[in-house]
Amino acid sequence: MTVRVGMVGCGGIAKWHTSHLEKMDDVRIVATCDIIPERAKEMAKLYGATPYDSHLPMYEKENLDAVFVCIPPGSHTDTETAAVEKGINIFVEKPMCLSMAKAKEVAKAIEKAGVVSAVGFQDRYLDIIDSLRTFIEDKQIGLFTGAWVGGMPTVPWWRVKAESGGQIVEQTIHLYDLARLLFGEVETVYAAAGKGIMTGIENYDVEDYSSVVLTFDNGTIGNIITGDYLKDAVPRNGIEIYCEDARIEYELRTAVRYHSRYLVREEKRIIDQGLRSDRTFIDAVKAKDPTMVRSPYRDAMRSLAVTLAANESLETGKPIKVCYK
Ligand SMILES: NC(=O)c1ccc[n+]([C@@H]2O[C@H](COP(=O)([O-])OP(=O)(O)OC[C@H]3O[C@@H](n4cnc5c(N)ncnc54)[C@H](O)[C@@H]3O)[C@@H](O)[C@H]2O)c1
Repeated sequence: MTVRVGMVGCGGIAKWHTSHLEKMDDVRIVATCDIIPERAKEMAKLYGATPYDSHLPMYEKENLDAVFVCIPPGSHTDTETAAVEKGINIFVEKPMCLSMAKAKEVAKAIEKAGVVSAVGFQDRYLDIIDSLRTFIEDKQIGLFTGAWVGGMPTVPWWRVKAESGGQIVEQTIHLYDLARLLFGEVETVYAAAGKGIMTGIENYDVEDYSSVVLTFDNGTIGNIITGDYLKDAVPRNGIEIYCEDARIEYELRTAVRYHSRYLVREEKRIIDQGLRSDRTFIDAVKAKDPTMVRSPYRDAMRSLAVTLAANESLETGKPIKVCYK
């Protein structure tokens, strides 16, 4: 079977996905869609695909097996539901939208249609995360810290909170998702944030920095910091975990270091997690088996819920019990 793929959104991350898909003999990129028609045309030209400037005609006219929805967080409309109602399997980039009501609507439609869904939490496909999970499997984790502190992404929608959700929702969600994978479900979040370092940037209304305390159902406590104001400083992205017999340092998509009193052991990433994630989705589509995917929509929704609760805590100044329902 050749899997016929359509791309919705032809920007930065869409190109990353097509760079994986073009390596697969059993995949054809047959249609591309972007509200900026030149972008759809440019990508279509590379693959002999048909360009569209809107998703509905593309779903209607092309006989698609799968779509990759790679649009800004605040731009999701019926982009997902219209696809799954036609029986098209979907890969949706994180964060899948900016409200739980919308996410629930999509999750229900996916389940009703029985299609395969995947969300772009690529860290779940890392070899070094697989072995980290095995290492901590039987251990009680007391504390962890996480950091996603770097510079501001240049895409224009990013700095507008109504379009991106802010940095916690748009970027640090990768660490919140990983924390759920490693430690269990989050019960409460308590967030504080600050502004004033990033000045003179048109349309900028996101927080410059924030710190969020998380409590988990199994007693683990964590703190995740987020910031976008670094310029010449070296960024920090990753998680540190404190076990009885090791302090573990996960450096985002690069390495995991296990520090114990007498030994430091470093494990470097070997597998390309992005390629593995896209390959797994395509294999699941071919097998018609949603369970093969490590980050199906319904599960990813729980990570979205945690980050939206962190935003609510920022707005109210109060600790928030995360609501998954
Ligand atoms: N998984 C990851 O590691 C990762 C990395 C980067 C970005 N992302 C996510 O991918 C998404 C897109 O980010 P990006 O960096 O590619 O942004 P981008 O701005 O480079 O590309 C988005 C594209 O979508 C188009 N678009 C907007 N609304 C559309 C619609 N309704 N139909 C069709 N096209 C539409 C825009 O014109 C633009 O070309 C975001 O949610 C972002 O968080 C994920």
